[in-house]
Amino acid sequence: MLTDKIRVGIIGVGYLGSLHARILSEIKNVHFVGVYDIDLERKNKIASIYKVKAFDSEEELIDNVDAVICAVPTKHHHRVAIKVLNNNKHLFIEKPISETVEQGEEIVNLARQKNLKLMVGHVERFNPAVLASEKFIKEPFYIETLRIAPFNPRGTDVDVIKDLMIHDLDIALNYIKSEPIFVHAVGIPVLTDKIDIASARVEFKNCAVINLTVSRVSLKKVREIRIFQADRYISINLLSKESYMIVKEEDAILPYFLDVDENLEPLKLEVQDFINSILEDRKPKVSGEDGLRALKVAHLIIEDIQKRIEKINVPNKG
Ligand SMILES: NC(=O)c1ccc[n+]([C@@H]2O[C@H](COP(=O)([O-])OP(=O)(O)OC[C@H]3O[C@@H](n4cnc5c(N)ncnc54)[C@H](O)[C@@H]3O)[C@@H](O)[C@H]2O)c1
Repeated sequence: MLTDKIRVGIIGVGYLGSLHARILSEIKNVHFVGVYDIDLERKNKIASIYKVKAFDSEEELIDNVDAVICAVPTKHHHRVAIKVLNNNKHLFIEKPISETVEQGEEIVNLARQKNLKLMVGHVERFNPAVLASEKFIKEPFYIETLRIAPFNPRGTDVDVIKDLMIHDLDIALNYIKSEPIFVHAVGIPVLTDKIDIASARVEFKNCAVINLTVSRVSLKKVREIRIFQADRYISINLLSKESYMIVKEEDAILPYFLDVDENLEPLKLEVQDFINSILEDRKPKVSGEDGLRALKVAHLIIEDIQKRIEKINVPNKG
């Protein structure tokens, strides 16, 4: 029986796990119990900052909590997720849900079968500029996304589609409730042995289209989404946290700058939503099914890129 404080632990306290640790120490309805990481120094450091237990094993941590935040590298997501869910604990798992679609399906099915909350860390859904635009987005027919970033070795255990493009896929798929029917994509490895830069066009049964461009080998950072629908154009800048709309009203074409609350912290809103989903017994804002849907489209894009890479002379085949 759960009380109004959920006991939570974190497996993997590297870059993102340590941010989750700070959030857990700050939000209400949480008893932050402890952490586990294979890196002893890292584990002890984070445990001592937040005065929580540094567990000796994943099993010991899982035994002592109601819910787990999993922030280990993506290649370990599936193994940790299955262990957490098999022990009947709710799970927040960082994005992407898993490396393969089969693994993602197994995680989603197990959570459903055990009636446990499963949330995937697509944190951009909680970006204040996205939140401010949300209520105006209805049946878009075209979405364009651009996400470029300087090189960072973290995240390169997977290609840039599963590392970065998946954020934009999740946002776009949240608005396009239709099946993808056609994918055309190009991409290439540049600094790693996996795809580092890519561009994809995905068409849906309802005729909507998404055009996504992503790079992790750029000098500057850009994160932008443009949404076109019958009654308006919406532009979202995820980095500067600004959003505006162009709307036609009678004979005038009017720009509206949306009221974005820049003080909102996306990671905090996200973790609070996970905790509330347990307390209120409802689906979290980004469900396991959402994470799996984004991963499935990511894989369609990767497969289309691989087909093309096979035909061109690239030293690293990705
Ligand atoms: N939501 C976002 O915007 C966002 C941003 C960055 C990373 N991520 C995701 O978070 C996850 C972690 O990424 P990161 O950037 O924090 O990586 P990181 O390398 O900084 O941290 C990973 C941590 O996991 C630990 N670890 C590795 N194997 C482990 C195991 N078997 N058991 C326990 N601990 C283990 C490592 O020692 C390290 O401390 C990835 O899935 C990544 O995709 C999400």
